[in-house]
Amino acid sequence: MKFTSSWMAVHGLLLAGLIVATGCAQPKKPGGSAGNSTEPTAVVEEEAVVVEETAPAEDMPAEEKPAETTEAPPTPEEPATAETEKPAAAVASVTPAGEDGKPAVAEAGKVILGSDELFTGIPGDGEKVTVEEIKAWLDDPKNHEPLDFELPFGMAKGATEIKGVDKNPLTRAKIELGRQLYFDPRLSADFSVSCADCHHPQEGFAKHTQFGVGIKGQTGGRNSPVSYNRILSDKQFWDGRAGSLEEQAVGPIANPIEMGNTHEACVLCLQGVEGYKLQFDKIFGRMDIEAVGEALASFERAIVTGPAPFDYAEAMKPFEQLDPEDIEADEELKASYEKVKAGVEANPLSDGAKRGMEIYFSEKGSCSACHVGANLTDEKYHNIGVGMDKPEPDVGRFEVTKDEKEKGAFKTPTIRNVASSAPYMHDGSQQSLEEVVEFYAKGGHPNPTLSDKIKKLDLTEQDKKDLVEFMKQGTTGTFPKINPSRLPE
Ligand code: HEC
Ligand code: HEC
Repeated sequence: MKFTSSWMAVHGLLLAGLIVATGCAQPKKPGGSAGNSTEPTAVVEEEAVVVEETAPAEDMPAEEKPAETTEAPPTPEEPATAETEKPAAAVASVTPAGEDGKPAVAEAGKVILGSDELFTGIPGDGEKVTVEEIKAWLDDPKNHEPLDFELPFGMAKGATEIKGVDKNPLTRAKIELGRQLYFDPRLSADFSVSCADCHHPQEGFAKHTQFGVGIKGQTGGRNSPVSYNRILSDKQFWDGRAGSLEEQAVGPIANPIEMGNTHEACVLCLQGVEGYKLQFDKIFGRMDIEAVGEALASFERAIVTGPAPFDYAEAMKPFEQLDPEDIEADEELKASYEKVKAGVEANPLSDGAKRGMEIYFSEKGSCSACHVGANLTDEKYHNIGVGMDKPEPDVGRFEVTKDEKEKGAFKTPTIRNVASSAPYMHDGSQQSLEEVVEFYAKGGHPNPTLSDKIKKLDLTEQDKKDLVEFMKQGTTGTFPKINPSRLPE
């Protein structure tokens, strides 16, 4: 099952959806059957718009050069050029003194995405947010201003690759509405499944099961990917079939095996919740499935992970190539050096992770041939051979592009915080990072369309341990703290 929902299946669910179209103000217990509302059933005249989750084949995005991972070190000969400002710029948001390693201080007036303050929910004490609290929140103009934000240190290397906010500007009100929707099981047909069930903050924003588990315990054939750092990601899903985060976000709602709803029934249900209606009306001036997608996408774009030890080690690299006397002689350079040094000291790489980082970024491991850039992914599709030994393998990107060369190619996942989101790969077939490294060491799984970047690696047992250690210790940064409750009554 690759989410090519058949017309029949969706139609059947639409009918089911109509029956339960109202009365969603009371979320049911997980697994509870829907439809016991006493309110009159809403009648929808129009034909349902069946939104196929499988998007029509789209052209691959123009091949872009993967982001450089290291900045050229400034040359001491030309101390006054823009080049010398690079290390300073690269560390602009480091506050090494922060106890949890989080950059707590943003430039004046700016918010650092991923900051906890964006996710506390509408102010108030109750388990649910009341209509009065929502009105007060919506009346504050500050919550509707386009958010003046920056990315946290580490992810900030990707500041030029930010996606989607031009069309769908971030505001506090949108992020907050998206947070509520993300945790709300009322988006599913029987009120039993929310986005968070398959992308839970406590499970690395993914799920520790091989496949996502949807309504009535149904499973598909793919593992739940992480839902953080989406702000640097354009096309979504393992095969990139959703053209944007907005488009992706509404997919699971109508997917028969995920949330099993229809978009019409979902919107009707949300319209019946006064707290939601108030928010949609004020924020979007409309209440439709596109607005649901825009709110969810805004919430996901705000989930950005904080710096990991390797970010500090990387920032130190340009300085290591400079003559210490030159650093000493240049006040600005010295100040940024001191900042980075303090960051490295507060967030050190373990010895094993240090060695593993060398392997990861060099020919020896070549991991950075694909897992590169600020979010440690090139956002491209490659066949590394996972599942290609099956009689009928998942063809991945091929289904979208129909390009033979892309048979079995999947989108490169991020390595940031990867230790938090086992099991691994599009089919959840690998249980541990040790298993993943063994898989790469033997050269992936041979098949006709295997990427030419995948080759047998010459790694000792110690090298393998070090690579794992780098992924566990070196790439683990901070996650934002997100309030899962405070949904509208
Ligand atoms: C039943 C489990 C399940 C539910 C519920 C679910 N997802 Fe997913 N999600 C998945 C799986 C599995 C995939 C990968 C599917 C694929 O690639 O074909 C995925 C993919 C994604 C992706 C793409 C990530 C990437 O790297 O491309 C995002 C973002 C996402 N989901 C967000 C959401 C949101 C928002 C919701 C709620 C509206 C949601 N999911 C509900 C299981 C689920
Ligand atoms: C040719 C590009 C390429 C290279 C080189 C590469 N990877 Fe991957 N990596 C991928 C792709 C694509 C996937 C997803 C494959 C799938 O699910 O079928 C992946 C998956 C992973 C995963 C699973 C992540 C998750 O969330 O499921 C880990 C961990 C990983 N790679 C680590 C590494 C390491 C370590 C190296 C170096 C030894 C490496 N990769 C080299 C492209 C690459």
